[in-house]
Amino acid sequence: MACDSQLFTVFVVLGILQIQTFLVVGEPRVPCLFIFGDSLVDNGNNNNLETQAKANYKPYGVDFPGGVTGRFTNGRTIADMIGHLLGFSKFIPPHATATDDEISTGVNYGSGSAGIRDESGSHLGDRLYLARQIRNHKALITRLTNLQNNKALTDEHLKQCIYLSNIGSNDYINNFLIPELYPQSHSYTSDQFAALLIRQYTQHLTTLYNLGARKIAVFGLGQIGCALEVIARFGKDGGSCVDLINDSVNIFNGRLKPAIDKLNNDLAGSRFTFINVTSILAPQGGVQFPNIPCCQVRPDGQCIPDTNPCPNRGLSVYYDGFHPTEIANTVLATRSYTSLSNMDASPYDISHLVQVAN
Ligand SMILES: *[C@@H]1O[C@H](CO)[C@@H](O)[C@H](O)[C@H]1NC(C)=O
Ligand SMILES: *[C@@H]1O[C@H](CO)[C@@H](O)[C@H](O)[C@H]1NC(C)=O
Repeated sequence: MACDSQLFTVFVVLGILQIQTFLVVGEPRVPCLFIFGDSLVDNGNNNNLETQAKANYKPYGVDFPGGVTGRFTNGRTIADMIGHLLGFSKFIPPHATATDDEISTGVNYGSGSAGIRDESGSHLGDRLYLARQIRNHKALITRLTNLQNNKALTDEHLKQCIYLSNIGSNDYINNFLIPELYPQSHSYTSDQFAALLIRQYTQHLTTLYNLGARKIAVFGLGQIGCALEVIARFGKDGGSCVDLINDSVNIFNGRLKPAIDKLNNDLAGSRFTFINVTSILAPQGGVQFPNIPCCQVRPDGQCIPDTNPCPNRGLSVYYDGFHPTEIANTVLATRSYTSLSNMDASPYDISHLVQVAN
């Protein structure tokens, strides 16, 4: 009897979830979502670029619907999940392949190995660095304005969208941390380099605002010094996090948050918010995940093509040497959408960013 009533509860709960899912279909909470960033959000833009930084082969995508590859993880990225939480019934398409019918609900400009600085990641090949992503956005707005044939309507539409920006890791991993290849960065101290990045990031975000964006969630950097490939390359002994690299990242994050506050002050009607990835991914009481990549990695830290990944992907934080698994992306997306601690997002989590008036 007790069993029966538990079963009943489960069915009722599932029923409610189904109703909510049903209501959400075709009725997203905002009309559009635009995504800027690097491999943490790239959903296939690099597939046809001349670069080593692409994920268009198995075992990437093994847990993605239909086994689609092109994302640097086993399943969905943080951007895919935020799109879902916002109520979009389809995935936001990569800019590279988005059709006229798709662009009014937003596109994803993300590109693996791209940085805030143009040259970051260049030793890996071509990439859509942030300035190029914003140029693509400008061209897309022209395309959308022509399609909608009503500039006032398009302008209003763009103001209602949510914009995500998740970039900066490659300015460290594929620039500042490789002085042999990027000597000009080596002339800066960590603090000067962070200041330079924040100055350039602020300019790009201001351009985005000038192109009509108002609600913009900006992700800080994770503890890159703990990425498995970074530990392998720079770590000393015992495989623990590289504190010096974490320090650099913390300086960047520490400068990014006040820069976001300043943008909110300076740009009328803007609603920028800072997402604290370090806070969200801080180890939770006692839960230890194995500190090894889920897939077998090649020397550059990406998965070796056509190898079998680990079977328990729900128990790994890293899919390859750099990139989170779908389960880690789920935590990131869920807590940036609905914050659990007042450190997670400031001044708003994404669910409140949706509601706030311009
Ligand atoms: C990263 O480095 C910082 C500063 O050295 C340290 O305090 C922190 O514990 C490190 N992060 C992790 C997750 O170990
Ligand atoms: C992010 O959250 C951590 C708490 O986990 C905090 O120590 C850090 O100062 C926060 N970073 C910023 C830039 O607010």
